[in-house]
Amino acid sequence: MSGKTIVILISGRGSNMEALLEARLPARIAAVISNDPRARGLATARARGIATAVVDHRAFPDRASFDAALAAEIDRHRPDLVVLAGFMRILTETFIERYRGRLINIHPSLLPAFTGLHTHRRALEAGVRAHGCTVHFVAPEVDSGPIIAQAAVPVLPGDTEDLLAARVLAEEHRLYPQVVRWFCEDRLRLGADGTVIVDTAPVPPSPGTR
Ligand code: GRF
Repeated sequence: MSGKTIVILISGRGSNMEALLEARLPARIAAVISNDPRARGLATARARGIATAVVDHRAFPDRASFDAALAAEIDRHRPDLVVLAGFMRILTETFIERYRGRLINIHPSLLPAFTGLHTHRRALEAGVRAHGCTVHFVAPEVDSGPIIAQAAVPVLPGDTEDLLAARVLAEEHRLYPQVVRWFCEDRLRLGADGTVIVDTAPVPPSPGTR
């Protein structure tokens, strides 16, 4: 147990959050925070005994004041890592700088292709043969930042947006816990020059375990 503390931010369904909660990570998930009180994932987190909080963006006059309130709520837990899991608000540069090297996001495309919304529809329209998902450290520009890991899936004949989304989502649920586990095991960090340093070599079993 590395003793890392994690806070997860969501806005909706929360299936990536759930994959993280199910992954038995060597970490403490201190809280799940949503900007939307209606986020379905809040109930899922509560049912698993995880503390939840809502910082409703509609209660704030601008992004800066919302981000300040969000940061205050996050910092109560002193997290080592803040995980964006379907968090649908654009964050200010001040917020992103505050969490440099400890703020990660998952995006449903092979970045830098298809930043923004409706990635599966746009992938089908573009006729790409491969699609997927990306986990990255967060940088000020939307859906950008040093790439940590990607998972690719084929685009198959007859694919619909829903079929492709489901194929990508299954990979998201595998990839995100993997990356968070690397961070928890001190095998992943953001270098001072912005490069991602990741050691994916398997960790040898400790004495006495097989
Ligand atoms: C996922 O596809 C994620 O990549 C994107 O938003 C979606 C969130 O889904 N950022 P969920 O809330 O994790 O189910």
